[in-house]
Amino acid sequence: MSRRDIVAASRRRFMQFLAGSPLLALPGVAGFAADGPKPRSKLPDPLTWAPLDPDQLIASPKDAINVFDFEPVCRKNTPPAHFGYMASGIDDEVTLRANREGFLKFQLRPRRLNDVSKVDMSVDLLGTKFDTPIVVAPTGGNLFIHPEGEVAVARAARPGNHAQILSASANYTVEEVTAARGAPIWFQLYVSPDWNVGMALAKRARTAGCPVIAVTVDRVGGRNQETMFRLRREDARDCIECHKPGITQRALRRRNYEGIDLSNLKSWESSNLTWDFLKRLRDSTKMKILVKGIVTHEDAKLCIEHGMDGLIVSNHGARGEDNGRSTIDALPEIVEAVGGRIPVLVDSGFRRGTDIVKALAIGASAVCVGRPYLWGLGAFGQPGVERVLELLRIELRAAMQQCGVKSIREITPAFVRRAT
Ligand code: GLV
Repeated sequence: MSRRDIVAASRRRFMQFLAGSPLLALPGVAGFAADGPKPRSKLPDPLTWAPLDPDQLIASPKDAINVFDFEPVCRKNTPPAHFGYMASGIDDEVTLRANREGFLKFQLRPRRLNDVSKVDMSVDLLGTKFDTPIVVAPTGGNLFIHPEGEVAVARAARPGNHAQILSASANYTVEEVTAARGAPIWFQLYVSPDWNVGMALAKRARTAGCPVIAVTVDRVGGRNQETMFRLRREDARDCIECHKPGITQRALRRRNYEGIDLSNLKSWESSNLTWDFLKRLRDSTKMKILVKGIVTHEDAKLCIEHGMDGLIVSNHGARGEDNGRSTIDALPEIVEAVGGRIPVLVDSGFRRGTDIVKALAIGASAVCVGRPYLWGLGAFGQPGVERVLELLRIELRAAMQQCGVKSIREITPAFVRRAT
């Protein structure tokens, strides 16, 4: 690419960034120029500089220089409705953007002259040692992106020894994914209105060797996934063939529900969830319980009062509600409320090594990553996921060295400040 092309591409991206910024409203869908690339499904990520033009897409995982490089390839390979399902936020997608922009509110305070020739990124999480604080977040139904789905993700998580949380809505079973990972995984639980269904899932996970369940508490009602709805209209396939309506039909594709009696289940939504549920769950299982979806210090304190083993600060990748607040912004009040009594994990919007260091410096124990590995999966299958995770590890190591820290333990609050 000539220098002129690079400048033109950068300018185009900058205009897209401005168009996505609340500071400047340009006319048209996200302000795309008539001769520019095809409008994307969502407002542009202001920190994304990966190529959008089809003739500039990476041809193999090793060509990627950052995780964003995988997204357009994934989009090219993936049916529009499926890509839309993954990419979608809620309503105006202000939280989707906030999750990225939130990192700009924090700045790192690097220290010098602290021999960082050897860096140890290992962490102890809920009793298990992992080589990295980067956790594979639960994402539902990975078959929608690649035939090997969650099994490919698990194989890719193996070389870097990442913790992996399998979604209850996975297409592959917890036994298959545990075998592919070659080590115990954690299981994410969607609580349905029927207690017995949740307990049957938890029991299956425990029998498969999962030491931890992550209970999602931020999906309590309907949601307006506009990007998904719009992209669905572009999809010429007969979707009903795969997405037959009805509780049992849906469960057929989510194989962890195999053999579980769903006859009393009227809906998947756990709108009736209360703290009593967590108390009952605590009393019913010896598995460690993480509460996923906490965004306030009040709820963080309640997690501790209810005997939870940890929590995940999460707005569900901006899919829970369009609250406009990033998780990195919510993290400090939660870390303060928890005061080191239980581990605090965080997800939603993490794309860079520096994002991860900021969260760890604020006080997170680990960071979960979702969409980037799905981009890798949709782009190149297992090798794509492997490269995404590798890039994140490379960036994290570099960010640690730049900050002058050689172990995760050394990343203290002194390494971060809130920008004024
Ligand atoms: C599943 O977790 C979703 O957000 O659709």
